[in-house]
Amino acid sequence: MKNYPNVTIFDHPLIGHKIAILRDKNTGTKEFRELVEEITMLMTYEAFKDAPTKEVEVETPLEKCTQRIVQERKIAIVPILRAGLGMVSGVQKIFPLAKVGHIGLNRDEETMEPHEYYCKLPEGIENMQVTLLDPMLATGGSANAAIRFLRQRGVKIIRLMSIIAAPQGVEKVAEANPDVKVYVSTLDRTLDEHCYILPGLGDAGDRLFGTK
Ligand code: PRP
Ligand code: URA
Repeated sequence: MKNYPNVTIFDHPLIGHKIAILRDKNTGTKEFRELVEEITMLMTYEAFKDAPTKEVEVETPLEKCTQRIVQERKIAIVPILRAGLGMVSGVQKIFPLAKVGHIGLNRDEETMEPHEYYCKLPEGIENMQVTLLDPMLATGGSANAAIRFLRQRGVKIIRLMSIIAAPQGVEKVAEANPDVKVYVSTLDRTLDEHCYILPGLGDAGDRLFGTK
């Protein structure tokens, strides 16, 4: 795959270790959910390195100093339903005050085109840095549709965090949105004929919520 300046692929041993368990077909719902949360926490460390900050004064036991802190209220996270919900708690562990919006999309099983069924975004989202959460970036159709919704609402700073991506999805999102920073834990080989990621982990929504 081509190199895109707006795409970061982590390939970190700690994340890789957890993804191995996540992929395993014998990993049950509880452990799957915990792993998605933990991987998201690890990804947040890197993906938010340019989070908005401000300087505050702190008094240590010895003296006063200034320290930069994150302006959590300028951060919004938006999971793409359903599977993106699994990543919310991972970001909230780090930024408990971040606003949370929701975009409901599912793929038409025939055409693979995303279909919108829900959209509720925080007031004032146009002035926030918004991070879309979706563990799977397959064809890129859902991510691109969610990015379009955010742009229509006037959002200017958008990131996307996905745990597993196919090259086809990364290319589609990165080329259509050079201003969107895309963070991916691992890049897989390709898509199958049903647009599932190979080797992937199967259906992330079903594995998170135990629906199949
Ligand atoms: C999955 C996944 C992404 C989308 C990725 O959702 O969570 O949102 O597919 O595929 P794409 O890149 O080809 O658009 P799905 O439509 O299966 O809905 P679900 O989360 O409700 O299971
Ligand atoms: N959505 C999933 O949940 N898994 C895939 O492999 C592709 C899309």
